[in-house]
Amino acid sequence: MELTPRDTIAPIVHIVSNREIAPEIFLIAFEAPHLAKQALPGQFVMLSVPPLYDPLLPRPFAVFDVEGSVVKVLYRTVGKGTGQLSRTKKGDLLKVLGPLGNGFSLPDPGTTSIVVAGGIGIASVYFLLVHLLKRATAPTTLLYGVRFKQELIPLEPLEERGLLIRIATEDGRQGVQGTVAPLLQDTLDQGLPETDREYFVCGPLAMLRAVAGRMDGRGVRAQFSLESRMACGYGVCQGCVLPFKDDADPGQVRYRKVCTEGPVFSPDSISWEAIPE
Ligand SMILES: Cc1cc2nc3c(=O)[nH]c(=O)nc-3n(C[C@H](O)[C@H](O)[C@H](O)COP(=O)(O)OP(=O)(O)OC[C@H]3O[C@@H](n4cnc5c(N)ncnc54)[C@H](O)[C@@H]3O)c2cc1C
Ligand code: FES
Repeated sequence: MELTPRDTIAPIVHIVSNREIAPEIFLIAFEAPHLAKQALPGQFVMLSVPPLYDPLLPRPFAVFDVEGSVVKVLYRTVGKGTGQLSRTKKGDLLKVLGPLGNGFSLPDPGTTSIVVAGGIGIASVYFLLVHLLKRATAPTTLLYGVRFKQELIPLEPLEERGLLIRIATEDGRQGVQGTVAPLLQDTLDQGLPETDREYFVCGPLAMLRAVAGRMDGRGVRAQFSLESRMACGYGVCQGCVLPFKDDADPGQVRYRKVCTEGPVFSPDSISWEAIPE
């Protein structure tokens, strides 16, 4: 979505709550009626904490969920920006730019949806799951992998709405031991017609690469949500570009902006070998 210069002034909103729901994983909620009305699954926002200017640049986060006029973001603390966010509390101010990016295309209600999330990648697909469960007439399954059991975020509200969940933990303390990739392999090997199914995937780059590798050549329909470092979030700085296959010559690489052309792409369009490990 292209923004006008006026759109790029981030409104300042009030934080409603901010709490640690799993080790180093926080759920922040803020009052943002305009965003709440417009946000689509897979879109993101740029957040910063005023009046602080260090870090100078806002950070990108997926829209996790919307409840009335309140928008929620789920985030893991990894550095300065997320550390700063984790210290905010009810009543504090937050600069919020968005909704940004293309978001997921929702499938026909009769399509079986298989959502694959690795670690904090769950943050980018939760709102999608909410939408799928509202409208789907076919089953929606989540394949959810984390390193440690404690990282699993509560999903009971979605289970109550009919979500089927398969879990993989690398510490083996819940679900299948290992990564989410073998769970996906089971699903791919069920022998069901891929024309009736669509996959939605978000997670760390290594997981996306592994999942794309297992899907390759099977004729599956899939949408991957990518992450890259972002400075502006709306197409100006070029900081977010990643390599894709050139439509005219798939042997050549063409750089595309993850913020405005994505963050959701077909895995077949990504030049995986040109992305550094
Ligand atoms: C479209 C989009 C949506 C995102 N949604 C979420 C979300 O919902 N929840 C969430 O927790 N995170 C999300 N992220 C990642 C989040 O933006 C980064 O974790 C955040 O910017 C880190 O900021 P920081 O200042 O705390 O870390 P920094 O101090 O900037 O960096 C700390 C460490 O994290 C690494 N890092 C920072 N950003 C990224 C990145 N984009 N990809 C890989 N490694 C990175 C750095 O290399 C460094 O090692 C999203 C990113 C994108 C592009
Ligand atoms: S983040 Fe600035 S162009 Fe994409």
